[in-house]
Amino acid sequence: MRVGILGSGLMGAKLGTIFARAGHEVVFSYARSEKKLEKLALDAKGKARAGTPREAAQDADTVLLAVHWLRFDDVLKQAGDLSGKVVVTCSMPMNEDNTELVVAHTSSGAEELAKRIPKARVVAAFGTVPSEVFFDVYEARRKARRPSLLYCGDDRRGKEVAAGLIRDVGFDPVDAGPLRIARYTEPFTMLIAQLAYESEGGPELAYRFEASREGPQPDEVKTCRSSPNGIAFT
Ligand SMILES: NC(=O)c1ccc[n+]([C@@H]2O[C@H](COP(=O)([O-])OP(=O)(O)OC[C@H]3O[C@@H](n4cnc5c(N)ncnc54)[C@H](OP(=O)(O)O)[C@@H]3O)[C@@H](O)[C@H]2O)c1
Repeated sequence: MRVGILGSGLMGAKLGTIFARAGHEVVFSYARSEKKLEKLALDAKGKARAGTPREAAQDADTVLLAVHWLRFDDVLKQAGDLSGKVVVTCSMPMNEDNTELVVAHTSSGAEELAKRIPKARVVAAFGTVPSEVFFDVYEARRKARRPSLLYCGDDRRGKEVAAGLIRDVGFDPVDAGPLRIARYTEPFTMLIAQLAYESEGGPELAYRFEASREGPQPDEVKTCRSSPNGIAFT
């Protein structure tokens, strides 16, 4: 699959690299330095190249949107028409200093994005874990117990594509329902950020949903931190 990366920072660079290593054709775009994009493409060691947002989007089946909320208008304008494309967003609707959600309760960043590109197949995914965990999860992808990753969206095809990418990275995709559920997954991300960056364990944090007993029992959530020995849930 051809995947365009719009925003090649902490999230876009790592996910784009993993997508390329998993066999996808990747175009890295939208950074402040062309050299950075070229180096990312070189280091990804797959079918990756650097391009403009327009090249990344127009040649792609799927686009990963990984920019700050305040950069949405600019990057969408540069990307051009996204009609019919799967747009996976990991972006959070944060204020300028990344301390507060500026959209919540009655809408979400993902829904606001979908309103701006109504003909695109918007799915919210990858935003509910810190970027620091992606490479460890990818390395551990052959283990039986994978960490979970929540995703949501209104478009069936978009969700299938997103679930495939989630599996490629090494997570177990958990379909949380329609796009409006991003109203809950985005605040959940604030909790994950609190655990990742404000507690002693460090940011290599993932989580797993498990049924605690056979039958219709409430699910249990387990968190784990990756280590050089892999990912372990206790
Ligand atoms: N980081 C995480 O762990 C995490 C977790 C969950 C959700 N998120 C969300 O994911 C989104 C991306 O986060 P991130 O941490 O990857 O952000 P980031 O590292 O700041 O990356 C943003 C990208 O946008 C580029 N950019 C910014 N201003 C630009 C401009 N004026 N012109 C061209 N390019 C510009 C940056 O360029 P440079 O490369 O030159 O800086 C960078 O490549 C955000 O909405 C964030 O809230 C992040």
